[in-house]
Amino acid sequence: MACTCVVGLQWGDEAKGKIVDLLTAQHDIVVRYNGGANAGHTVVKNGRTYKLSLIPTGILAPHMQAVIGNGLVVNPVRFLEEVDALRAAGIPIDGGNLLLSDHAHVIFPYHVEEEKLGEEASAAAIGTTGRGIGPCYQDKVSRTNGIRVGELLHPAHLRERLRSIVPRKNAVFRALMPSAQQFDADALCDEYLTHAGKLKPHIHDTALFLHRALQGGKNILFEAAQGSLLDVDHGTYPFVTSSNSSTAGIWPGSGVPARHLQRVVGVIKAYTTRVGRGPFPTELTDGPDGIGERIRKTGREYGTVTGRPRRCGWFDTVAAKHSARLAGADELAVMLLDVLSVVDELRICTAYELDGKRLDEFPGDAFLLEQCRPVYETLPGWKTDIERARGPGDLPAAARRYLDRLSELLSLPVTIVSVGPDREQTVFMT
Ligand code: GDP
Ligand code: IMO
Ligand code: MG
Repeated sequence: MACTCVVGLQWGDEAKGKIVDLLTAQHDIVVRYNGGANAGHTVVKNGRTYKLSLIPTGILAPHMQAVIGNGLVVNPVRFLEEVDALRAAGIPIDGGNLLLSDHAHVIFPYHVEEEKLGEEASAAAIGTTGRGIGPCYQDKVSRTNGIRVGELLHPAHLRERLRSIVPRKNAVFRALMPSAQQFDADALCDEYLTHAGKLKPHIHDTALFLHRALQGGKNILFEAAQGSLLDVDHGTYPFVTSSNSSTAGIWPGSGVPARHLQRVVGVIKAYTTRVGRGPFPTELTDGPDGIGERIRKTGREYGTVTGRPRRCGWFDTVAAKHSARLAGADELAVMLLDVLSVVDELRICTAYELDGKRLDEFPGDAFLLEQCRPVYETLPGWKTDIERARGPGDLPAAARRYLDRLSELLSLPVTIVSVGPDREQTVFMT
């Protein structure tokens, strides 16, 4: 029995989806334990591109069962749209291979409106994906307003809950902005009961399902969403998401005790990207002809969910060391190394400078990180196409040196290197 987690060590979009897909052969079940449709995981295989958001990427492998754990916040409309899109792409989906936790929380349209009101009105906007993620988690923790997936199967109960919640939401929205959208509890209830009929075959006690699977010797692959630096407890708070996106979220978000985890693959981009607001010490803001823009264009660094250009910058070992420790990473998968082929000389951030003093450890607060200046070391680039590399020997010496340096600075072995989006464009280092 083996439990593995694929987790991002930066601010998301590290290409976790590609690694999950590569590891499916050794696993039976794939589990998402955090977030929702704020994630966008892309996989390219057999000449076809698949984009997954709420549904675990591992479902693309025909033998896998996929679980949406209790730690997620689920918009039924997006769930059903994604199921339809996957079916249209030839991926068979039914209640047997896609299980949805009865304890996951439900996103309603008022969550999306609530987020819009907060983000538009506030100078402290986070730059969220606008999917209602934060407000739904807020309702989960506040308890009085949260509705879980299992409750959708009880019509009279659901109607009563919505009749109590919706008028309070409406009153708050009106007070915040007179033109805010207003909602009708009964209309929402009718709509969600229709969705519930379609969700029903998928709804299970997924924690029990996973415990039985473990007893039966099944191998489980945990697929993190977002990156560890967006973790609500350990990331660059408050510019984070509302869940534990590090491995810390596995236990609460799936019900599988942490001691079952045997392998943690920390996924990093060979550089750094970030979408949305928040501190980013190694960000390249060198204009339309600069290296930042060159990386963005070559790496096609535009958000899968919102289409926003991703902010690009150099690799930051201070940040990655912090998140690798947090995640308990055993090894590193270094992604998009091919993108750095367009850069003459590479920089790696090895420390920060704050108030004239050298800082070797990551400050836990965004307002402090905002003031940190990166200390760089410089390495030569390779300036040659590496997209066709398939073994360590195919990589130029400068690329191997760059990887060795990352491994040394993070004290972890690099086991996988990705040199292109396709499944085949992968170098296994061991
Ligand atoms: P995730 O959210 O961590 O799964 O990552 P995303 O899917 O949002 O972003 C990663 C993007 O990089 C996707 O478009 C992938 O197809 C693409 N990608 C993955 N690996 C590589 C690689 O090695 N090189 C290049 N150029 N693109 C890659
Ligand atoms: P994957 O799984 C990158 C960012 C948003 C915003 C912050 C909070 O594809 O790596 P939210 O909507 O979650 O309340 O937004 O988190 N964010 C991501 N950035 N990749 C993601 O997911 C992200 N999910 C959320 O841009 O800054
Ligand atoms: Mg993504």
